[in-house]
Amino acid sequence: RIPLWLDCDPGHDDAFAILIAAHHPSLNLLGITTIHGNASLENTTYNAGSILEAIGRPEIPVYPGSRKPFSRPALHAPDIHGESGLDGTDLLPKPSVPPITNENPILAMRNALLAQPKGTPWLVATGTLTNIALLFATFPEVAEHIQGLSIMGGAIGEGFTDAPMSRLPGEKSRIGNVTPWAEFNLYCDPESSESIFSNPVLAPKTTIAALDLTHQVLASQDVQTRILHGGRDPSQPPTIIRQILHALLTFFAATYEKVFGLATGPPLHDPLAVAVILSTLNPTFALVHPREALRFDDRDGERFAVSIVTDGHHGKDVSATGQVGRSIAMPVTGPGVAIPRSVDLEAFWSIILDCVQLADDC
Ligand code: BDR
Ligand code: CA
Repeated sequence: RIPLWLDCDPGHDDAFAILIAAHHPSLNLLGITTIHGNASLENTTYNAGSILEAIGRPEIPVYPGSRKPFSRPALHAPDIHGESGLDGTDLLPKPSVPPITNENPILAMRNALLAQPKGTPWLVATGTLTNIALLFATFPEVAEHIQGLSIMGGAIGEGFTDAPMSRLPGEKSRIGNVTPWAEFNLYCDPESSESIFSNPVLAPKTTIAALDLTHQVLASQDVQTRILHGGRDPSQPPTIIRQILHALLTFFAATYEKVFGLATGPPLHDPLAVAVILSTLNPTFALVHPREALRFDDRDGERFAVSIVTDGHHGKDVSATGQVGRSIAMPVTGPGVAIPRSVDLEAFWSIILDCVQLADDC
């Protein structure tokens, strides 16, 4: 099994990233660090423990990480994820195992990754990048040691894909989801983001699941129904875990419709960053049933130099905001960041649904 560490800010879509990281039979989730982002650090930490409890993996350790970026205040997204960061259901359980607060989270991440054979572990980030920047600034040897870094973040634009939400009605130049230019995770802490993309050891090991990709992966009504009932008789009451995941998607769908006018289902951004690891597996890998391997299209290995705009202020005043947090990707011929353009949607949803079933059986 491929070892991985997950840094996240749950978050409705982060919950699904935790689900597949914790349950996919080809993955070994070593631990979780939490980060400010969708909600406060206290809330994202509680939510991570609650999701692990709900999916039957409470033993996976959770370490609260950074509560704010180094040089900016923390930003949250209550309009998308609710005040708790994981609004939408009263069924979420209280974590039975408390988060680990007597160990340094960055050191825990470093130790867990270095304890794995060199070139095997992955680091996955589905939130703001403050913890990840701290890790590589403090322990640069981790960059040499890991197999890969997979990040949900960024918005490329400029004809990169025909993702349905790349252009919102009336906003022809919009590529971001928090400003016209910027994606939320990279926007919240652009200085940390830039420190990662400018690290020459990390860049060739990095894949980003940008909005151009994640906006293609919409949790439609059909997906929501399959999550609620699986292959079961719809006249039977669904299990608690299915009710929880379905309620989370219902809430997420409603906020995406309200904020972005998207009525076809919310983009399930974060699990794509975990799925990137699965795409490196042997094509004959099987989950519950034999399946096609998950394939991302990155146009025959195209690679990019990515930089993040750090000039500008957070806020609604567009003249002061500028393009802060924007991810600029320039094609390179040598080593660089991988940015998949599309994904095998059927294989992706099979992975999600199979992992829901595994959580259900737990
Ligand atoms: C990202 O921002 C967060 O709100 C989501 O959890 C995801 O990680 C999408 O821009
Ligand atoms: Ca997230």
